[in-house]
Amino acid sequence: MLDHVLVYVNGRRQEVRGEDAFLSLSDFLRRTQGLVGTKIVCSEGDCGACTVLIGRPAADGRRLVYLPVDSCIQFMFQLDSTHVVTVEGLGGEASPSAVQEAMIECHGSQCGFCTPGFVVMMTGLLEERDELDETSMRCGLTGNLCRCTGYTPILDAGSKVDVEKHERMAKKYPADAMISEFGRRRRKPIELRADGGTHVDESLRDSKFASRRDAATWRLHVCAAPADLEGALAFLAEHPHATIVAGATDVGVRINKSLTVPATILDLNRVAELDSVAVEDGELVLGSRASWTALEQVCEARVPEFHKIIQVFGAPQTRHVGTIGGNIANASPIADSLPFLYVMDAVLELRSAGGSREVNINDFYKGYKKLDMRPGELIARVRVPLPADNDLLKLYKVSRRFDLDIASFTAAIRMRLDGETIAEAAIAFGAVGPTVIRARKTEEFLRGRTLDEETMQLAGEVAIAEITPISDVRGAADYRYQLARNILLKFYYETQNFAVPV
Ligand SMILES: Cc1cc2nc3c(=O)[nH]c(=O)nc-3n(C[C@H](O)[C@H](O)[C@H](O)COP(=O)(O)OP(=O)(O)OC[C@H]3O[C@@H](n4cnc5c(N)ncnc54)[C@H](O)[C@@H]3O)c2cc1C
Ligand code: FES
Ligand code: FES
Repeated sequence: MLDHVLVYVNGRRQEVRGEDAFLSLSDFLRRTQGLVGTKIVCSEGDCGACTVLIGRPAADGRRLVYLPVDSCIQFMFQLDSTHVVTVEGLGGEASPSAVQEAMIECHGSQCGFCTPGFVVMMTGLLEERDELDETSMRCGLTGNLCRCTGYTPILDAGSKVDVEKHERMAKKYPADAMISEFGRRRRKPIELRADGGTHVDESLRDSKFASRRDAATWRLHVCAAPADLEGALAFLAEHPHATIVAGATDVGVRINKSLTVPATILDLNRVAELDSVAVEDGELVLGSRASWTALEQVCEARVPEFHKIIQVFGAPQTRHVGTIGGNIANASPIADSLPFLYVMDAVLELRSAGGSREVNINDFYKGYKKLDMRPGELIARVRVPLPADNDLLKLYKVSRRFDLDIASFTAAIRMRLDGETIAEAAIAFGAVGPTVIRARKTEEFLRGRTLDEETMQLAGEVAIAEITPISDVRGAADYRYQLARNILLKFYYETQNFAVPV
């Protein structure tokens, strides 16, 4: 049993144990490493100022794959066997990187607070492509906010990067030694402990410049980072109420907002059995730790409608680490994946040390954030039947902003026709009640009727009697009623190839 995580930072080897293992990566970098180029602004994954590259061994174990991630919502206990590269590790005043030079040349920085995040993100984009064209910049930078420069000089910088001079991470940081050391510890379980007390940095408590974590209350913490599923289930059997952590894009925000690190944590990041993404017998078979980036790749050809939703799921930094299991277990009524999973009748495979059971996702939520998941259980796999060739499927996310925003309303509509008659209908709405709901009465109303404008208008009236939306910052209840009505018509216009009114 190892008592530390092994992390390389800008090529330097670090063993991290005790309280440091429970720090966010951004706090670890700034406080213990003096790497203050990584900035903290929002502490909740929204601005990208804290972006760093995290390199993990590829599936073939021969190289490290570097992905840009928000370090404010990643924690050291998640990062065993990784190479973290910060803005300092890319280049400095004496020898700026090609991206840094382009940002200087194009005046892509004013106050400079967002700049390290942009530089790291652009470097991350260049890990997977040979140049930064406008589309890759616009899509790739949706998770990076700048409050003073304006984006035009930053976009210009992308087009000016001297790609001949740019060094990929594999060249800048030869990885053979790291990879072989990571391989040697892969099968060893890790248990991290930080022993108690209250760790309050009084000098920083009232400072408006302090990180929110400065006032965090520390109790005795234990975190297991088992090397396999069996180890994870054994730990859960002993600690049935442990907080499970996958990508930490929800848990991390909760920790930073509440200033409380959970006392007992089960981290799933090393459990390779939960990573799988496969298509088997007409189903997507997904390990619960499948990331949105991995899903984006497989869904592009297999379920283009779901791919469209994944593309506006958070930002690249969120998608690289956020997982499908986390989205399901977080149980938000506005979670982007749920309406699709509802109308496809996805099945969750729940595992505990005592065995496994299956639950249809439509039966999984018992109320607001109440799950049919027993202490000691975790979500191991999600099986999603693929739409048939003759299914009509449309997924909708309505939000105030297109990118990096939380939905005001979501919907999924799946239909199968027999001629012009609706043979089957499945409809799910999100953000209209304490859980995502399946509109069973509307489905029943539609079955056997002709798919036309009048039917869909009448169905809208049935649908609004099935929902109980509230008014909040993302939309008024009336607005959501109107959306539930209109989305049915929109589905009709879109699937029957009418021009959709804007
Ligand atoms: C900036 C930002 C943007 C976001 N944008 C979106 C968005 O557009 N749409 C959207 O739907 N969500 C969004 N989210 C929320 C979040 O990214 C997703 O819900 C994500 O899928 C959570 O996955 P995770 O692995 O990070 O979960 P974690 O934070 O690790 O865990 C979330 C919850 O699930 C539990 N859990 C995790 N894995 C398991 C498991 N295998 N078994 C049982 N319980 C488990 C955890 O205990 C926790 O309660 C956003 C979050 C951020 C920070
Ligand atoms: S500080 Fe804003 S995303 Fe991390
Ligand atoms: S340069 Fe000031 S926030 Fe971007």
